[in-house]
Amino acid sequence: MTEHVRRELTGGIMTLTIARPDKKNALNEAMYAALSDGLELAERDPAVRVVLFQGEGDSFTAGNDLAVFRTASNGQDGPDEAFRFIGNLGRATKPLVAAVQGNAVGIGTTMLLHCDLVFLAADAKLMAPFVNLALVPEAASTWLLPARIGHVRAYAMFALGEPLDAASALTCGLANAVVPRAELHAKARSAAEALAKRPAGSLSHTKSLMRETERIASQISRERALFGERLQSAEAHEAFAAFAERRPPDFSKLSG
Ligand code: COA
Repeated sequence: MTEHVRRELTGGIMTLTIARPDKKNALNEAMYAALSDGLELAERDPAVRVVLFQGEGDSFTAGNDLAVFRTASNGQDGPDEAFRFIGNLGRATKPLVAAVQGNAVGIGTTMLLHCDLVFLAADAKLMAPFVNLALVPEAASTWLLPARIGHVRAYAMFALGEPLDAASALTCGLANAVVPRAELHAKARSAAEALAKRPAGSLSHTKSLMRETERIASQISRERALFGERLQSAEAHEAFAAFAERRPPDFSKLSG
């Protein structure tokens, strides 16, 4: 267990709160494990009808803890729990709702492609700067994001790290509504409550008809193979060292 993820169950809604605000809710392996445990429990427990993701502080999440990536790029333990979480998102059969404020980086954005209702605070900023980190995108986002917002917009997010602000994300169909920050959690909670009152069997069949879970799983595994290779690359090593040393990366002398 970790104190950086809180799990509560009330009224059929399992709320998973990411709570590491001093690090912009960056997700380390223990936090991914807690989120995965929550999703796995939700699948098993009929008392859970909806899962609601939210974050404490000014950011939803800054994505993967880059210290974990740096360790993995040095040949040590990899982000296995991150991939367990991604697999669980792809397989989830219960409704997933997200309340997103501030920065939603990396998995903070790609996980939204697996959520069924998404609410953004007006200050939300979706970012998927995988190429800036010399990585490849994950969570089947290489298929799901272009399918949602078109190739060129998705490519600009992945390759150039271009952020999508809340209004644009709404226009692109990545969110249901943009609300003032102060109303975000109540708005998402009330949507989750509405889902919790719907017939669970019908919801689960509807979700499964709307998602190609086998294709999602196969895209996740293709991405994972390349992600693992990229983590060991000299380019990624430079990207993580640069973040730790608070300097821009220099890829100019590296060939790939
Ligand atoms: N991993 C580890 N620590 C992170 C982090 C991450 N992904 N993102 C932020 N932090 C830490 C910072 O190192 C800093 O720690 P410190 O106070 O001990 O120095 C703290 O969180 C605050 O971050 P800071 O960069 O000062 O906040 P900001 O408001 O200026 O910028 C972000 C916020 C999210 C835009 C910026 O932190 C960022 O780009 N982070 C990296 C995001 C990323 O690339 N994630 C991986 C995606 S796959």
